[in-house]
Order: sequence, then structure tokens, then C-alpha cells
Amino acid sequence: HDLSHANTMALACVADTVVTLTDEAQLDEFMASDDGSVPLFVLSGGSNVLLPAKLHATVLQPQMRGINITQQTDEYVDIEVMAGENWHDLVTHTVSQGFYGLENLALIPGLTGAAPVQNIGAYGVQLEDCLQYVRAYHLPSKTWQRLSANDCQFGYRDSLFKRAPNTWLISRVGFRLHTDAARVLASYGDVQTVAQTYATQDGREQPNPADVMQAIIDIRQQKLPDPKQLPNCGSFFQNPIISQAQFTALQVSYPHIVGYPMPESTVKVAAGWLIEQAGLKGGGIAPVFTHQQQALVLTNHSPYQSTQDDVANAQNYIASCVYDKFAITLAREPVWVNADATIGQGQYAV
Ligand code: EPU
Repeated sequence: HDLSHANTMALACVADTVVTLTDEAQLDEFMASDDGSVPLFVLSGGSNVLLPAKLHATVLQPQMRGINITQQTDEYVDIEVMAGENWHDLVTHTVSQGFYGLENLALIPGLTGAAPVQNIGAYGVQLEDCLQYVRAYHLPSKTWQRLSANDCQFGYRDSLFKRAPNTWLISRVGFRLHTDAARVLASYGDVQTVAQTYATQDGREQPNPADVMQAIIDIRQQKLPDPKQLPNCGSFFQNPIISQAQFTALQVSYPHIVGYPMPESTVKVAAGWLIEQAGLKGGGIAPVFTHQQQALVLTNHSPYQSTQDDVANAQNYIASCVYDKFAITLAREPVWVNADATIGQGQYAV
């Protein structure tokens, strides 16, 4: 089974077996006969994974569809979304219905079931802000479980699901969205300015959630490569969190360094800025280069042929240049999958 078209980085990958799940009962049936001898690997939209050339596993692909309103009041609406729903389509659908809260997360590639795994976040909003619960299958015990937002242990680009790989298959995600069109979060970067332009064009004083969504779509389309045109898996590195002391020291040499204050005297530094300052905007090791408009994104210029090794070469080169210049270690953000479906770094340090 060729999976090179099932991962947005377009890495060459062949898997032993692929099982597509269009309803939850299929998973019960499959697991009833599974003796545990072959590793299982859950693959959703493939937009945040680095797959090996040969994947010796049974790949489970959740593709259940459906969006249901479970409760509605004057102020909020609760919806339950099946894992196989396309994330961006869900965002535009909810906003068009007048259900708000997801608009800042527009144009993030992938499927809804994978969104909780890395607690997707953009423009000041993280998934955890609207998520109420997750229904997931616990593979080791072969049981269905309902996890509250608290149970999911969300962090920056992190969750219980990410920390316990190959343990959970998410089938449904429950959200509480609000109906107040005046409540928007547009404080990040250019979002306010662009959203205001849309509001003014439409004869309104204040931007509404649809304006914010359109602004974010515009900004993302300018900066981030469309995986269909130039394969990538979004931000390749996490924004590193360093001590306030180290940040202050760096500010002496680099007065324009970009950082956001975090709890406990730490600062989250813009990794894209560090990479650009290291002279690597558009740089890398062929055929994997950082994106011209956003250095935090690695792009694959040899789709369906490049392998994990090509990615590792570029990653190690970029990370070592940044370390040499700033003494900051960059950690990889997408999930690295080994040939036996275990997750981790193997020979690659970060
Ligand atoms: N910057 C540069 N050069 C670059 C890239 C960025 O100088 O090449 C500077 C920008 O000028 C800005 C700062 O770095 O001052 C931050 O840049 P940006 O707003 O583009 O956001 P980011 O921190 O690079 C994060 C997320 C993105 C998310 C954006 C917007 C991570 C790892 N990445 O990127 O998420 O869309 O914020 O909220 O947190 C993803 O996870 O795949 C992703 C795209």
C-alpha cells in the first residue's frame, strides 16, 4: 500500500496493510480479531507526520463522517464532529451557520480527529479553547472512552494523545461554540487590520468572526505553502521556550529578536525568525528547503521520492546552524514514525 500520497510532505512510503474505517463498528470488528502480533498505526490526514520508506504495520485510517448538533441555547451550541471530517471545511461550515470559536483555526490542513493530538493552534487560539470532550478507542484495552478536555492534558502543540503514541484512535470530537458575532479575537499580527478592511467594505464598524476567518485565510495563503502545490507539513520546528535571562542576553546582540513572554520567567522565541537570521530562509539541503515566505516550514521539492533521510539531513543542518548562532536547540514539531511504527527520534537528536 503506497502512502506517498497520504502524507502532505509527500515522502515515499509503503505500508504492509491499510484498513479504512468509515464507522466505529468496523474498528470493533477489526480489533476483535487482532492478536496484537502486528503493530498498529493510526494515520489521519497525514499533515503532521514524517513516514518511513517502509512501514511495517497495519495502518488504521479513521474516515468516519458527520457533524451533529447535540445541544443549543441562545448563547452557545454544542457540536459533535466525526474524526474524518476535513478540518478547514468544518471551520467554514460552523462560521457560515453562525457558530463561532474555530475561525482563527481556518486553513489548517488535516482532519478533525487529528486536531486534538497536537492541540492545533494559530493566531491566538488553540483547539483546547473550544473542545469539550473526545471520544476515542483505547487500543491496548480495546475499549471506547470519553475524555474531557482536562483528561486530554493539552499543552502547546501537545496532548495525552501525542505523548502516548499508538494508544488512541480518536473517533469524535465535541466542541462548544458561541453565537455572539461581536466576540472575536483579532489581536495577533495583521489579523485586526485585514479583518477591519473586510468589515468596512461590508459597511460594518467592527469585524465579525467571518471577517477574522477571511483575514486569517488571506494571511496563511500569503505565508504558508499549499501542500498540494509544494509538499510540507506546516511548522517543522516548535517555537522554543527559553529563559528570560537568555532572552535578555540575546537582545543585546539581536535587538530585533521576536519573543513572547510565557509563565515562570520564560520566553517563547519565533523559530522562523531564528532560522531566517541564520541565513536559511529558502535554505536547507536538497531536496528539502525552508519556505521562502516562512522559514519555519520545510518543503519537499522532490515529491513521492524524498525519504525521511532527506528530511533528517535538512533538519539537522538547520538546527545546528541555529544552535551555533544562538545556542538555542530547535525541536521538531511533526511526528517522526519509525519503520516498526514506534514514534521517536531514533538516530536523530531532536
Ligand atoms: N518570522 C520571521 N521569519 C520567518 C518566519 C517568521 O522573521 O521566516 C517572524 C515573523 O515576522 C513574526 C514571528 O516570526 O514576527 C512569528 O511568525 P508567524 O506569525 O508566521 O508565526 P510562527 O510563530 O512562525 C506559529 C505556529 C503556526 C501558526 C502561526 C500563527 C508554531 C510552531 N507555529 O508560527 O502554526 O499558524 O504561529 O499563529 O507554533 C503549524 O503548526 O503548522 C503552524 C503553521
